[in-house]
Amino acid sequence: MAASNSKPLPENIPAHVAIIMDGNGRWAKQRGLPRVAGHRAGTENLRRVIEACVEFGIRTLTIYAFSTENWRRPAEEVNGLMTIFEDVIDRELPQLNKNGVQLRHIGKLEGLKPAFAQKVREAIQATSHNSTLILNVAFNYGGRSEIVEAVRRMVAEGLPADSITEEALAAHLYTGGQADPDLIIRTSGEMRVSNFLIWQGAYSEYYVAPAYWPDFDKEQLRLALEEYANRNRRFGGL
Ligand code: FPP
Repeated sequence: MAASNSKPLPENIPAHVAIIMDGNGRWAKQRGLPRVAGHRAGTENLRRVIEACVEFGIRTLTIYAFSTENWRRPAEEVNGLMTIFEDVIDRELPQLNKNGVQLRHIGKLEGLKPAFAQKVREAIQATSHNSTLILNVAFNYGGRSEIVEAVRRMVAEGLPADSITEEALAAHLYTGGQADPDLIIRTSGEMRVSNFLIWQGAYSEYYVAPAYWPDFDKEQLRLALEEYANRNRRFGGL
């Protein structure tokens, strides 16, 4: 498969790519801008990366937008992020539909402003018929909390202990029914998992890009895919 205006892509494109979009704050600081300006630039970049994923034939993209720990940030930044997310839903919905993007949410909608949670539900509904790319937005998401919630749901359903298998637990996660990520990218050079997809990423390939998220462009995504294609995935075998 060849992408237009760039080098040919490797043959084995990962079906599911997940991204920890890190470095917005440092990107802004480098320019003497407020942190929220970094998140706005990160949002613009997200649109470009979604389009590149569609072009490259990636089928699922999972992005870490807001963690359960991000509430600890100053109120100004948290409020700025919430405003950005609301604006993005209003503004980007037509483009997401045009690109065949099916929006999904992973995380807790409880605890968010009811009007915002409702907007998210409506956007999910409005894109549910699309099938080119599934976009999982991890928002108010934490990997440990996701596993705890899954166990609680299994207990509430009355599952006997011997029915609590890896498959049953995976099916009760927010990502139930979806394949695990093949490749998890983190931008800004940080080498941490930060509570992101800690169950689903058990056998994912990890790739750390040096660029801050607003600068992580299509060419850098292509480099990540190239490196992925050269990895030898063994899933614990030989
Ligand atoms: C990490 O950078 C980024 C975030 C906590 C927010 C990510 C959000 C966006 C890119 C906005 C777009 C997303 C959607 C779904 C519209 P950081 O603030 O931790 O950066 P730093 O490590 O340099 O401080």
